[in-house]
Amino acid sequence: MKINVQLNGLALALEIAPHEFLLDVLRRYGCLSVKRGCDTSSCGVCTVLMDGVPVLSCSLFAAKADGHSITTVEGLQREVAELADFMTAEGADQCGYCNPGFALTVLAMKRELAAPTEEQIRHYLAGNLCRCTGYVGQMRAIAKYLGVKE
Ligand code: FES
Ligand code: FES
Repeated sequence: MKINVQLNGLALALEIAPHEFLLDVLRRYGCLSVKRGCDTSSCGVCTVLMDGVPVLSCSLFAAKADGHSITTVEGLQREVAELADFMTAEGADQCGYCNPGFALTVLAMKRELAAPTEEQIRHYLAGNLCRCTGYVGQMRAIAKYLGVKE
């Protein structure tokens, strides 16, 4: 079957199997920034944006994306590079496996919350786990990126 999506700004008809999850389809179509971690909706490394909202692609049937806009890190290079500079400056780059999911969630938060507090940031990022437990550096970098006052 085919689904019609805006993938990173391109209108595409993607061939999918009815039982496929969005994660597998995106990786097959070259979006290798989208990672597989827990595969059980617990870690957030498979996060992508659907119509600008973070969703877990490991547990979303690809068929549900029909008619929607999907954004991955490949489609937000400039914004992600800007955030990456803040991560690097705080020594929060580490293994980087979780970074695409974190980055997309942070970019969605930036659009949704005008001036988030640190508590709101933590709440928003609760579904994104970092297996290296680099949270302190990540939080410093994200708070600076979002302009949180100390
Ligand atoms: S791989 Fe999707 S939440 Fe962990
Ligand atoms: S930097 Fe997140 S899992 Fe390593």
